[in-house]
Amino acid sequence: MVNLSKEEQKMFDGEVGEAARQSMEILVAMGKIYDAEKMIPVSSAQVSGVSYKTIGDAGLEYLQDLVRKGAKTRVPTFLNPAGMDEAQWKEMGVPGDFAEKQLEILDAYSKMGIMKTCTCAPYFIGIRPREGEHVAWAESSAVSFANSVLGARTNREGGPSALAAAVCGVTPAYGLHLDENRKANIVVDVQCELKTAADFGALGSAIGKLAKRKYPAFRGIKSATEEQLKVLGASMAATGSVPIYFVENITPEYNIADDAGQMTFTDFQLRSSKDELDSGEKPQLVTIGCPHASLEEIREIAEMVQEKKPTTEFWVCTARKLKDEAGRLGYTEKIEKAGGKVVADTCMVVCPLERMGYHVTGTNSGKAAKYLPSLCSQKVAFGKLKDILYR
Ligand code: F3S
Repeated sequence: MVNLSKEEQKMFDGEVGEAARQSMEILVAMGKIYDAEKMIPVSSAQVSGVSYKTIGDAGLEYLQDLVRKGAKTRVPTFLNPAGMDEAQWKEMGVPGDFAEKQLEILDAYSKMGIMKTCTCAPYFIGIRPREGEHVAWAESSAVSFANSVLGARTNREGGPSALAAAVCGVTPAYGLHLDENRKANIVVDVQCELKTAADFGALGSAIGKLAKRKYPAFRGIKSATEEQLKVLGASMAATGSVPIYFVENITPEYNIADDAGQMTFTDFQLRSSKDELDSGEKPQLVTIGCPHASLEEIREIAEMVQEKKPTTEFWVCTARKLKDEAGRLGYTEKIEKAGGKVVADTCMVVCPLERMGYHVTGTNSGKAAKYLPSLCSQKVAFGKLKDILYR
């Protein structure tokens, strides 16, 4: 049984309005399924299910119904990427009928008090819960980063459950909110050198498949930037629904279960993983920023393409706040001169790429490589940026 506080009970009984009642009902139902004894307050929520491509008309109607019922967030809440850049969707080639629906979705979220951050890397725009802090985040790569790199605590919420947590300010206490569940049950001995984001993406893609929902702990990774860790986590989340991982001497937690299994990851496996992800074709479009690019990544790309113009069109996907900063710092100008675009609010997977004339897309992310074929009907050119931008 889920014990509710007085305030939570009031929400459950409908004394705080219909939207809160409906939301608390969802949270209590989840709590019962997962044997949660109580609710715990969350300091923020991240809501997925933002692109019209992924939620469609049914999702839009669900959101508009919640707005009519008076849904308002109780904790800072922000959005995952939408299906287009709100400011330059026409230049991107997004169809008008899609854009119209997308704007309605964004409007519904705004009416609930949700910030239109539209990013899957909120941690790069200053939204960084502290170690041990409870949050309710939904996007799988952000969940992985919050748990693993920041040491915060979140289950992998669905769109509706993250929204319910945002409206009620609490989430059921189960899963990764509890110490006893934050333990690796497979230890991966990495016996190869990882240099680029594509290396981390290939490692994540392979281990996600092998781990099969187990939580991995990596040994032998000598150093890793936050940008590389975001790709590692995103790739494992995509191929294996992995919501947390540990890296010895790097992540804030490194907990191993007594009965954890072992595996190795060699240079041969790294090469095989990359070969498996890469169609070998020349991309029509290279998409950078899965998860969304940091300012440092945008700077590096600006310098790279200023030195040598890519042989293909390319997008750098990022949060609007960082796009604005990139503009002020002159990075956007360099990227645009080299034939690229800095694209905010969206990404290569949740925008309607398949309706925009592209068939072969390049990426250095294991997550994008996993979803581009199934969600966007794309062939994938996978590799480090220097390879795919100049292939
Ligand atoms: Fe983010 Fe889109 Fe990748 S939401 S993690 S850039 S698939």
